[in-house]
Amino acid sequence: MLVIFLGPPGAGKGTQAQRLVAEKGFMHISTGDLLREAVKNRTPLGLKAKEYMERGELVPDDLIVALIKEKLPKEGNVILDGFPRTIAQAEALDKMLEELGKKVDAVVLFEVPDEVVIERLSGRRIDPKTGKVYHVKYNPPPEGVEVIQREDDKPSVIKKRLEVYRKQTAPLIDYYKEKGNLLVVDATKSPDEVYEDLITKLGLK
Ligand code: AP5
Repeated sequence: MLVIFLGPPGAGKGTQAQRLVAEKGFMHISTGDLLREAVKNRTPLGLKAKEYMERGELVPDDLIVALIKEKLPKEGNVILDGFPRTIAQAEALDKMLEELGKKVDAVVLFEVPDEVVIERLSGRRIDPKTGKVYHVKYNPPPEGVEVIQREDDKPSVIKKRLEVYRKQTAPLIDYYKEKGNLLVVDATKSPDEVYEDLITKLGLK
């Protein structure tokens, strides 16, 4: 099963993906995580992507499509988190899947208003050792766990990421609606409620 997670920054895509991995054995491919790893390791991709990410802009489509071509597993249950993010990426994915004789089974849209995004992203903290995601108010890290804040979770960059989402990524909602495989979850609810809704809509309960 191939599932795409679509939605604004901070909607909770990564949080729900971690749970589907732990409880339903999905593989999680997050282009954001792959890019951050590349930046950390100063790979050629990381060196090219760094400035776009720090500004809250999208990394060019050709780099992302090449990355997915390399990472997309041929089998198994997969969540694509944060990809595709433009119509050009969605078309490239359709082509890749056609060559593999596969298709997108479901696209989950995490719906959440801007004010919730801003609150979630400004309170987000990460454990750099495990990659686990926390929130200072909604999911505080356990005592003794040292956490960091993502560079792009600063207020001016959050604003830019929301603008970029509206302009470049939101058109994918209609793209997948027309294909008939868009599922919508109310991502303003608690993580447990969102998860229940998600697995019900995906037929995984
Ligand atoms: P990426 O890492 O994909 O960032 P994003 O889409 O902006 O998503 P986030 O990781 O910020 O949020 P999320 O929805 O996963 O929320 P989370 O679960 O962490 O991309 C980063 C950058 O990489 C981009 O800006 C771009 O430059 C580049 N990039 C990546 N993919 C690309 C692509 N395809 N093309 C081009 N460029 C690309 O939750 C957020 C917070 O809220 C956490 O603190 C969490 O604990 C909390 N939380 C989660 N759920 C709930 C809940 N239900 N209630 C209360 N709190 C909650």
